[in-house]
Amino acid sequence: MKYEIESLSSDGKGIVKINEKVHFAENTCPGDIIEPITIENKNSFGLIKEYTLIEKSSKRVTPPCKYFAECGGCSWQHIGYESQLEAKSDIIKSALTRIGKISGSENLEIEVVPSPKELNYRNRTVLHTNFSEGVASVGFYKQSSNQIIDIDKCMLLEEAMEKAPSLVKEKIISEAQEGKQDYAVFLDFKGNVKSNIHDKDTDFSFSQVNTQVNELLQKEIEELVKESATNPKILDLYCGNGNLSINLAPYSEKILGYDLSNKAISRANNLANKLGYSNASYKNADISKIIKHTKPLKNFDIMILDPPRDGAKSCYNALAKLHIPTLIYVSCKPATLARDIKEFQAEGYKLKFAKGFDMFPQTPHVETVVVLQR
Ligand SMILES: C[S@@+](CC[C@H](N)C(=O)[O-])C[C@H]1O[C@@H](n2cnc3c(N)ncnc32)[C@H](O)[C@@H]1O
Repeated sequence: MKYEIESLSSDGKGIVKINEKVHFAENTCPGDIIEPITIENKNSFGLIKEYTLIEKSSKRVTPPCKYFAECGGCSWQHIGYESQLEAKSDIIKSALTRIGKISGSENLEIEVVPSPKELNYRNRTVLHTNFSEGVASVGFYKQSSNQIIDIDKCMLLEEAMEKAPSLVKEKIISEAQEGKQDYAVFLDFKGNVKSNIHDKDTDFSFSQVNTQVNELLQKEIEELVKESATNPKILDLYCGNGNLSINLAPYSEKILGYDLSNKAISRANNLANKLGYSNASYKNADISKIIKHTKPLKNFDIMILDPPRDGAKSCYNALAKLHIPTLIYVSCKPATLARDIKEFQAEGYKLKFAKGFDMFPQTPHVETVVVLQR
């Protein structure tokens, strides 16, 4: 039997209904006609493990990167950019309606702001490396495996660092670093390519990966804040280096940010000092712990929330109970965003705004901004 791929899932797979049951197929595109060969049946869905591609969708394009067929670094290069944006809009809407059951979300048309650069947009990444018996490989893992696909460049990295995989390879060969290692590569503030052995614990200080989309995101938040309140008191939770709130200082009474990373908090406070923003201060804390003492967190007009992919996992219920009038939630995972704001809805908040930002072209990931008010 032949079936047409209808849409794309949040993890990038094609979705098709067979006898009313949802089935997923990797490396497909909406509009593809496929004939399943092997299906693994799960309780509520099926995985099409093997299929014949009978007819290619008109939404397909030729992937620009020569490693695309093998490398698992990105999975949507075969899908035209307009179709990627449409799919991301559907993914956000589906999370808000199905997971969040957010009132009014069924009728929303969710715009996804395109990335000014469809390729060469990432300002940092982590590369896997292996060097044994004189052979070095550097790159990302193959899809659903931990086999390194050896690459000499990555077209998602900014032009200046596109060839970072080759540079890292030269380094591990010249230093004869036997074994497996992860390397963080990034551009420093002068635009030079830097790399070092990645240490999740000591390295960690978050920054947005797509500089141009980050600027669009910052501008959007500025507009949303101006529309919501005059001279507001802003609580910026999961504030990192103050990226989303520092620009708001000139027209806010007060900004208070919290983040787990000491490094990021120092950066935020240094920047606030440098810019002369005495009304902005950033503190090092675990939000799931400080939320137990809610009093200092209550007297704010706007709460900006920008947690990691897991969302505000252990504290979204407590955050919703703070009853801060406006919530601006920025999320890189629509499913956890929807789960968290469901709790805010239960506390009387209403959805006022939802927009996507394509921080991660050529992948199924999307940044979402929603505003809720009570
Ligand atoms: C998606 S980043 C957002 C950072 C910042 N808003 C930005 O735009 O660059 C998430 C941040 O959450 C912080 N974080 C993770 N778990 C945390 C926790 N339990 N308490 C406080 N901050 C946490 C991380 O250090 C990271 O800076």
